Amino acid sequence: MKNRRNFLKSALVAGGGMALFNKNSAFAMGQNTSLPKGIIYTSENPGKWAQKIAGHSPVVTVDKNSVTITTRHSMSQKHYIVRHTLVAIDGTVLGEKTFYPSDKKAISNFKVAEGHSMLYATSFCNKHDFWVTKFKL
Ligand SMILES: [Fe+2]
Repeated sequence: MKNRRNFLKSALVAGGGMALFNKNSAFAMGQNTSLPKGIIYTSENPGKWAQKIAGHSPVVTVDKNSVTITTRHSMSQKHYIVRHTLVAIDGTVLGEKTFYPSDKKAISNFKVAEGHSMLYATSFCNKHDFWVTKFKL
């Protein structure tokens, strides 16, 4: 499990280093990153998955210190959401949940300590790659 987390974290910071998480970075501003296209997809930059935004871009709801991440994607043995993470602006992983094809929905909930204002929600589909939504608390 730790290897998967490290892979995701290194994928997020590769190329652009921690600048990727800087609030003024290109990624934070919804633009292309220094990463090559084809690694991270967003609703603003869905790349080859432009027809897949609704079912893959993580949807976030915030209620005080409670963050719920939903990926509106079906779950089956062959095609499912593998994982959610909640990541701080500095790259610290605040929460993570791994799903299985037998799970009915890809929904995760995390309690967030005070002091965070911007966060990233990630969702990984076994067929349609790695998606990120940046949001404010
Ligand atoms: Fe998918």
